[in-house]
Amino acid sequence: MGPKSRANGNKKAGGWVLVTGASAGIGRELARAFATRRYDLVLAARTESALDALGRELATSHGVRVKTAPVDLSEPGAPRAMAEALSAAGVEVGVLVNNAGVLSEGPFAAGALDEQLELLQVNVVALTALTRLFLPAMIERGDGRILNVASIAAFMPVPQLAVYAAAKAYVLSLTEALAEELQGTGVAATALCPGFTDTAMIRGSALGRPVPKGLTMSPKDVAEAGCAACLAGEAVVTPGFANKLITSGAPLVPRGLVRALGGAMNGGGWERLAGALQGLAAASGRAKR
Ligand SMILES: NC(=O)c1ccc[n+]([C@@H]2O[C@H](COP(=O)([O-])OP(=O)(O)OC[C@H]3O[C@@H](n4cnc5c(N)ncnc54)[C@H](OP(=O)(O)O)[C@@H]3O)[C@@H](O)[C@H]2O)c1
Repeated sequence: MGPKSRANGNKKAGGWVLVTGASAGIGRELARAFATRRYDLVLAARTESALDALGRELATSHGVRVKTAPVDLSEPGAPRAMAEALSAAGVEVGVLVNNAGVLSEGPFAAGALDEQLELLQVNVVALTALTRLFLPAMIERGDGRILNVASIAAFMPVPQLAVYAAAKAYVLSLTEALAEELQGTGVAATALCPGFTDTAMIRGSALGRPVPKGLTMSPKDVAEAGCAACLAGEAVVTPGFANKLITSGAPLVPRGLVRALGGAMNGGGWERLAGALQGLAAASGRAKR
C-alpha cells in the first residue's frame, strides 16, 4: 500500500500502523490518534475482545481498515511469528508503535525472577525484535516510522522499580541511536517518554499513590503528543511541562540527586527528594561562601 493523504497536515508515512499493547491505556489512545489521521491499523495485545471492540469502533468512526493480532509478547517467538503472519497477509507495516509494556515493582532482591525476566522479554526483547524485523523494509522503501514508548524513568535509576527503569533506559538509548543511524533514510525513530499517566498500570501499582494529582496526564494527551512527534520524525518527546522539567534537568544535576528524584517516584520518596534538594541547596550555599 503506497502513501495516501492524511488528515491534520502531519508528515505522510505509507503502510499500516502496527500498535502493540493496543487493548488498553496509552496504546489504545495511540491507535485512536493514528485512526484520526486516517491510518489503517493492526492492533496487537493478548486481550482479543478488547482489540475487537476497539477495531470496530475505529473502523466505524474513521473509515479505516483494522486488523487484530492477538499475541503474547512474553513468548520469545511471538515477534517473528507476528511479522511473518502480517507479511503473508500482505500487510506492509509503515509505522511500528512499540507500546506494550509491563511493570514490576518492589525491592529487586525480593522480586519474582520470572516476573522480572518477563518484563525484559516484553519491554526490551520483543520491542527490539519487532524493530529489527520491520525496519529493513522501511529503509528499503525510504519511508517509515518507529515509535518506542519509553518513560521519564528512562532518565534516572528508580529504586523499587529497578528493572523497569533500566529497561526504559535501554529503550531510550536504542531509539536515540536509531534516530541518528536513520538520518537521511526517510525513516525516523521516536522515543515517547511519558510521566505518570492515568492507566491501569499506574492505578494497580503502589507507584501511583504518592503522586501529586497535577503530575498525572491522561493517556489521550500522551498519545496525541507521541503520534504527532512520531509523524514529525522527532527523536524524543516528553509530554507535559513537569515531565519535561524532570527529563531536561536530570542530566544536569548531581547523580545523588538524580537517584533521589528516582526514589521520589515511589512511596516515601518525596521526603527523600526534599531532603536531597535541601542538601544540594546547603552545599551550593557553602560553595558560595
Ligand atoms: N502509565 C504510565 O504512567 C506510564 C508512564 C510511562 C511509560 N508508560 C509505558 O506506556 C506503555 C503502555 O502502558 P499503559 O500505562 O498504557 O499500561 P496498561 O494500561 O497496563 O497497558 C499495557 C498494554 O500492554 C499490553 N501487554 C502487556 N503484556 C503484554 C504481553 N505479554 N503481550 C502483548 N501485550 C501485552 C496490554 O495488553 P494485554 O493485557 O491485553 O496483553 C496493554 O494493552 C508501557 O510501555 C509503559 O511502560 C506508562
